[in-house]
Amino acid sequence: MSPHFPSMAEPGGRTLGDEEVAAAERVIRSGMLSAVWGTEARALEREMAELYGRRHAIACSSGTAALHLAVVAAAPDPGDEIITTPITDFGTVAPILAQNAVPVFADVDPETGNLDPAAVARLIGPRTRAIMAVHLFGAPAPVDELRALADEHGLVLLEDCAQAWLTELPPLPPRPATPLAAVPRPAAPLAAAPPGDAGVRLAGTAGAVGCFSLQQWKHVTCGDGGLVITDDDALARTMRLFSDKGWDRAAGRSHASFGLNYRMTELQAAVARAQLAKLPGVVEARRRTAVRLLEELGGLDGVRLPRPEGHAWWLFPLVLPGGGAREMAAALAGEGIPARAGYLEQPLNRAPVWSGPVYGTSRFPLDGADAGRGPTAACPEAERLVADTLLVIDWNENYTDAHVTAVADAIRKYRPRP
Ligand SMILES: Cc1ncc(COP(=O)(O)O)c(C=O)c1O
Repeated sequence: MSPHFPSMAEPGGRTLGDEEVAAAERVIRSGMLSAVWGTEARALEREMAELYGRRHAIACSSGTAALHLAVVAAAPDPGDEIITTPITDFGTVAPILAQNAVPVFADVDPETGNLDPAAVARLIGPRTRAIMAVHLFGAPAPVDELRALADEHGLVLLEDCAQAWLTELPPLPPRPATPLAAVPRPAAPLAAAPPGDAGVRLAGTAGAVGCFSLQQWKHVTCGDGGLVITDDDALARTMRLFSDKGWDRAAGRSHASFGLNYRMTELQAAVARAQLAKLPGVVEARRRTAVRLLEELGGLDGVRLPRPEGHAWWLFPLVLPGGGAREMAAALAGEGIPARAGYLEQPLNRAPVWSGPVYGTSRFPLDGADAGRGPTAACPEAERLVADTLLVIDWNENYTDAHVTAVADAIRKYRPRP
């Protein structure tokens, strides 16, 4: 029988410890639980901005709130379209509807489940305002290709990194060598290199805004919470105002724009700060065991293994090109392995939500959506992955080599054979 697999819902599968207890106690004893007057959320924002080498980070109440702030930053007019993936959490899509914009689902790469840039390119139309990329399961989405598309068509690229803390993007190709005499002299000192490992580019920094979740099942958690990062001063101001009812605190009791209350509390922020300090260790431990599993399974027929480059291993996905994921997941679960087929019951383009009204009895903003490019357009690759070929295994920083061996043995035993 397999060893017990620690889950993110229990103490042995989390990194919550004395530091988080001290953080929560510090806030409670301070008497100040609101981030409007406290210091913890602002400190978390500084620490996040520094970790990602961005000018701004804004803390908020959830990953969904973070994504809503990003959609607000993209400023769609009512009825504009935002292209995204049908394999994601509904928190990626709800903010698009909340801003009265139309989610348009593009099909995905059958190997990774991440957006296929060619499918995105086919859907860009006169109402397209933004592309929302999701780094699914912690694997880098092709955001450089998506950014090139966005730039070409005057769109905003947003990144959902809820599952992708410290996911790394591929290095940019070297620029063609410029003759020395042609190199312009910088007027100001060159910008400092981003912190962390020299040259590492992190998911969340390719688009205008990167969004993160601190919900219970993420790499790091404070129960619920979110963060956005951006290098754009104007977008940062727009998002901060929206997260605080449009209240320009520097101008007294004055409301500059429409907004909601998406503020993070000091309790959430203090716990999140302790967790953020542990994040590099969490991702490193997940990478070590995931790479060991890849080594154990190398060359196995009947399963396609994920590529390790840049992966942050929120989950460990497998693709069975011949199908049979539901049967194999059930067999693995029977051996005590935390495996599930498909990740979702159905991809979001097939979710029941689209058959009902959106606001009251109205279907606005979907009533004019074209069946070929709206939220219910066919995405055959995504549909096949979810129905038949995708299997995900929960991953955890507290897995040991014994867990890896148990997973590898079970996959060898139950993989579909031709
Ligand atoms: C890819 C993705 N996007 C968005 C969300 C929404 O985040 P939250 O649950 O913090 O609102 C989640 C997770 O729940 C997610 O996995």
